[in-house]
Amino acid sequence: MCLVSQDLVLSLAILLLVLLLGTPSSGAFGGAENNVKSAVFLSPKVELRPGSVANKYYYDIDFPRGHVALKSFNAEVVDEAGNQVPLHETYLHHWVVARYYQPKHVTTHTGYDGHRILHKSDHISVRNSGICQEHTLGQYFGLGSETRGTATYIPDPFGIEIGNPDEIPDGYEEKWVVNIHAIDTRGAEDKKGCTECWCDLYNVTMNEYGEPLKPGYKGGLYCCYDYTQCKLREGFEGPKRSIYLRYTVKWVDWDNSVVPVKIYILDVTDSLKISNDSKGPSLNHNCKVEYEVDSCSAGNTNGNGCIDVRRSTVPMQSGGYVVYGVAHQHSGGIGSTLYGQDGRVICSSIASYGNGTEAGNEEDYIVGMSTCYPQPGSVKIIDGEIVTLESNYSSSRAHAGVMGLFYLLVAEELPQQQHFRHSTRSSFFLDIKNMFY
Ligand SMILES: *[C@@H]1O[C@H](CO)[C@@H](O)[C@H](O)[C@H]1NC(C)=O
Ligand SMILES: *[C@@H]1O[C@H](CO)[C@@H](O)[C@H](O)[C@H]1NC(C)=O
Ligand SMILES: *[C@@H]1O[C@H](CO)[C@@H](O)[C@H](O)[C@H]1NC(C)=O
Ligand SMILES: *[C@@H]1O[C@H](CO)[C@@H](O)[C@H](O)[C@H]1NC(C)=O
Repeated sequence: MCLVSQDLVLSLAILLLVLLLGTPSSGAFGGAENNVKSAVFLSPKVELRPGSVANKYYYDIDFPRGHVALKSFNAEVVDEAGNQVPLHETYLHHWVVARYYQPKHVTTHTGYDGHRILHKSDHISVRNSGICQEHTLGQYFGLGSETRGTATYIPDPFGIEIGNPDEIPDGYEEKWVVNIHAIDTRGAEDKKGCTECWCDLYNVTMNEYGEPLKPGYKGGLYCCYDYTQCKLREGFEGPKRSIYLRYTVKWVDWDNSVVPVKIYILDVTDSLKISNDSKGPSLNHNCKVEYEVDSCSAGNTNGNGCIDVRRSTVPMQSGGYVVYGVAHQHSGGIGSTLYGQDGRVICSSIASYGNGTEAGNEEDYIVGMSTCYPQPGSVKIIDGEIVTLESNYSSSRAHAGVMGLFYLLVAEELPQQQHFRHSTRSSFFLDIKNMFY
């Protein structure tokens, strides 16, 4: 009797376990992955005419609040009806999301302040962990044309910690700013040229502050600032259109089971200088963000076929375990690799191109970058390790304003409880048994 009933209780308990643990979407039991929250937000409206450029900074955007760990950030361009806008109509040059603290008494600052990065005295910008100079590439998230096809999720138990009340200075609150740089290429005489911001197509000879461009500067962000206009085909006319950045953020509430990751952005144009002043030697990064690729028909074959290979070597003052890696390149990009000091591959991120016309598969545009998700603990950057970033572009034609960035998420520690789910399961099992006895 007793044995039979025990067996029955046991199988009932197992059945219950399967029911309760087998449905992760129930959200009531199990690890952090079951408590993921998700929200979809729309940026303010961006208005574009055929050939026009918008480079907008919107402060205090909708964003998760409180002490949380961010798990992913996906974005794309949509029109007023919520339809996806393809890159050959509105080219998404980049979007960037950055963090800052603002005094509580200051009224929200919205709109365009004319600067690439926040540096108003009434804000404290909170940059990522490095490694470029000052405010350069200090964002938490950012991508360009590849945004629809690039994974951004952060695997459990890792996350980007934000909103920690112990870190926010007294009297301040945490806010977020988005920079959206979009180029409308409807009717453009040279769509590719417009997306690469060739100065001649924009008839631009001075930057947005009215200063003359550097001699020999052919194209890039200094020629496609807000309200500039790219050259259209003779007689082309088209309607003004409104677009939005639609972004989906996922997060979990902060708790001790979440392992924080640091954000690093490396730039292949970084030229490092060691200065030696009264304070002793120090490293000065000089990330220029953009560069030019000469056409190989101009005699620059370099023995690489028609591939332009650019490298930058920098020390990572503090390292850790790589949790995620992805490169950012522009059209013509092939892929990019980060190497360790001993030459091992830390992460390689390859560009994929569309082959159709629909949003997410636009021919000749980079519609995705492959990502690295090493088994946690398997790829480690040692403190002080000198890493080399390599960025490859096709040089079968010349390119202006291209980028070679590498975004890395690094955990300084590994989770203490590697078997978190297993241990929950067994303790839960015991609880059910206790209920029956
Ligand atoms: C280009 O700019 C110059 C002065 O900045 C102006 O005189 C000229 O008309 C512009 N050309 C076109 C095609 O807009
Ligand atoms: C830096 O300056 C100190 C004192 O002037 C000198 O002894 C040292 O060799 C310098 N180091 C480098 C790397 O130039
Ligand atoms: C970049 O080019 C170098 C030199 O040809 C090559 O060794 C490397 O594999 C290339 N990397 C990518 C990601 O294409
Ligand atoms: C695009 O590429 C995919 C996968 O390689 C292929 O199946 C498809 O037929 C291609 N489409 C066009 C329009 O070429």
